[in-house]
Amino acid sequence: MKTLSYFHYVWCFTSFVVAYPGMGDTMEHVRRSAKAARADSKQLIGDLKTLKDAQLTAIGKDIKAIILDQKTAISTVIDAGAPAGTPDSAACKADLCCVWKWISYDMTARFNGTSGRCTKFARGAVRLGFHDAAVWSNTTSYGGADGSILLTDEISRADNSGLATIADQMKQWYTKYNKYGVSMADLIQMGANIATVVCPLGPRIRSFVGRKDNAKAGPTGLLPGVNDSADKLIKLFQAKTIDPHDLVALVGAHTTSQQHFVDTARDGDPQDSTPGVWDVAFYGETVSTTPPRVFKFASDLALSKDSRAKSEWQAFIGGQAHWNEDYAKAYTRLSLLGVNNINDLKECTKVLPPPRTSFVNQDQKILDLWLQGQYDQLNSMVDDAIMLTGLTST
Ligand code: HEM
Ligand SMILES: *[C@@H]1O[C@H](CO)[C@@H](O)[C@H](O)[C@H]1NC(C)=O
Ligand SMILES: *[C@@H]1O[C@H](CO)[C@@H](O)[C@H](O)[C@H]1NC(C)=O
Ligand SMILES: *[C@@H]1O[C@H](CO)[C@@H](O)[C@H](O)[C@H]1NC(C)=O
Repeated sequence: MKTLSYFHYVWCFTSFVVAYPGMGDTMEHVRRSAKAARADSKQLIGDLKTLKDAQLTAIGKDIKAIILDQKTAISTVIDAGAPAGTPDSAACKADLCCVWKWISYDMTARFNGTSGRCTKFARGAVRLGFHDAAVWSNTTSYGGADGSILLTDEISRADNSGLATIADQMKQWYTKYNKYGVSMADLIQMGANIATVVCPLGPRIRSFVGRKDNAKAGPTGLLPGVNDSADKLIKLFQAKTIDPHDLVALVGAHTTSQQHFVDTARDGDPQDSTPGVWDVAFYGETVSTTPPRVFKFASDLALSKDSRAKSEWQAFIGGQAHWNEDYAKAYTRLSLLGVNNINDLKECTKVLPPPRTSFVNQDQKILDLWLQGQYDQLNSMVDDAIMLTGLTST
């Protein structure tokens, strides 16, 4: 919402300048600097690069508008009804999204913790979606959101340390649902979107299906390193058509995360003081003092200070609606890298659970003690988003 109104504001402002006599250069300057300052991704990808508007399906048009920042990627369309039948029934087979409704139930049960925060499976699913899709660049002829991370030995690469648990779970879902025509590539991306909305405050991102699987492992060297410089990270993502502002929005996924392999002595330490909650605390806390258990990634610190990223980083502090809009748009682009049949995709957003637009931890007092570095015994319970009863929050 905020992105759109900001866009609208810039548009009004430039119109105003146009009406001002003799100010053509200023208008050009304003327009150019607004564009440079935003540094948002605008390139077309996949088959959208070559298809003419007249050839686009309704979905193709919508996806094009989303990645050109002309349409929101957040949806409120919800199917509140029961599935048409069990996955084996003729009624269910006749409805493309029916099997996805069952998948959504299975995933939601795994992703939602008893505290109402999202679990390690949800966090893993978001990162898995990223690591399948981002193995692509504008110079590779294959890779991307093609399921290869789990259909090949890609998952055993060092880049993917920490993803073993969600990988096992996702493979079980694949075994259960592949017979109904579900691709691994779609299962992984739907998993990321369901996980995002199950995390409290997370956006409900429009979800498309119809990606093709690839049994060939993706190219190496295309995932970011935690010690990479901001310049290296920005260039790596630019070659994926993801510009600095979109990168800043995407790394906000660390709002929910808990590291295990960057520093094994600090296994389970979160990247902000509210793990399992899709809030904007991560942005503010990366640039300020935090409780000792909060573990900041060198890559996030570097990005937060880089001139190409800093203004957007600052804008997200306290900007939940702005961030949700931008994350949803950037993730939609990411989830379609390497996909060359975008125009033929179908939409099953309606199976996603409803968003939770407000959330208060009921067990913050215990979490606060844990964040101070006490009670290591709680690590796996925090990881599983279990409600830590004992002290009330008020
Ligand atoms: C600058 C780019 C990035 C770097 C260097 C980076 C690095 C990392 C590292 C080192 C971990 C910890 C893994 C572990 O020790 O278990 C992690 C976790 C995570 N990352 Fe990133 N990441 C980046 C971008 C992203 C993006 C774009 C997303 C999603 C859109 C994402 C989502 C996550 C999530 C959800 C986790 C938590 C996984 C868990 O809790 O098990 N990251 N990331
Ligand atoms: C997740 O769990 C919380 C707390 O039990 C509940 O309020 C919420 O509705 C659940 N979310 C979904 C999508 O089922
Ligand atoms: C990143 O740098 C830290 C500190 O120098 C080091 O301990 C760690 O092993 C490095 N991690 C990687 C993946 O290079
Ligand atoms: C790939 O992206 C980079 C970064 O935006 C750009 O410099 C380069 O020209 C692009 N290459 C191709 C082949 O499009």
